[in-house]
Amino acid sequence: MKLILLGPPGAGKGTQAEVLTKQFGIETISTGVMLRAAMREGTELGKLAKQYIDEGKLVPDDVVVGIVKDRLSQDDCKNGFILDGFPRTIAQAEALTASGVEIDKVLSLEVDDEVIVERLTGRRECKACGTPYHIKNKPVPANGKCVCGGEIIQRADDNEETIRNRIKVYHEQTEPIKEYYESQGKVVSVDSSGSVDQTNAAVSKALGLVK
Ligand code: AP5
Repeated sequence: MKLILLGPPGAGKGTQAEVLTKQFGIETISTGVMLRAAMREGTELGKLAKQYIDEGKLVPDDVVVGIVKDRLSQDDCKNGFILDGFPRTIAQAEALTASGVEIDKVLSLEVDDEVIVERLTGRRECKACGTPYHIKNKPVPANGKCVCGGEIIQRADDNEETIRNRIKVYHEQTEPIKEYYESQGKVVSVDSSGSVDQTNAAVSKALGLVK
């Protein structure tokens, strides 16, 4: 399975990817997770990405396409992968196609903008492994640490002003990708405004994992 998870910030891409990666036994490739790791390590890529991420803007296409191509060429992607947060522009989608990667399905998670703001202001995540939590919907374990033992933090771009800018950028630059893949008959859409379990049940059905 070569799957793209498409959806606005806070739609639950990372949350559903965590479940699907176990169900399919394939890796999730998240450009957001990779870019934040580079920021933490203070690499040249991380320094560049920070300028864009902190303002809710997209990192330049050539930079992101380069890191995704490198990652997809690794052995653990040979039997399939889940792309979370990539492609995010038509240029990125075209670059993926041009590199010879044949996508099976695009799972579009649909949710209203105001639900997104509530979800993202309440989000916490593991600094080590990136697992998402939420102050109400998916509380952090009682010991205050992630299940992997990592420290739980709030992302710098999860403040209301940046969240609203990310939503605007999504509508302007990322949403057109849906049409690009619809024209190839690859899009399955799922309502992601219910609970995590409700959304996961709908995702499993849409992907034909259950009847
Ligand atoms: P990225 O890390 O990809 O962030 P995003 O797309 O903004 O998505 P999020 O991670 O915020 O949300 P999500 O859909 O994964 O939701 P989650 O499952 O965590 O990108 C960050 C930045 O990096 C971008 O702004 C850009 O600058 C840069 N970047 C990344 N990729 C790029 C690219 N390809 N090109 C250029 N730049 C790029 O859920 C959110 C919260 O809600 C959690 O707390 C969760 O517990 C909760 N939740 C989830 N589902 C539900 C549910 N059904 N019910 C209730 N709560 C739920």
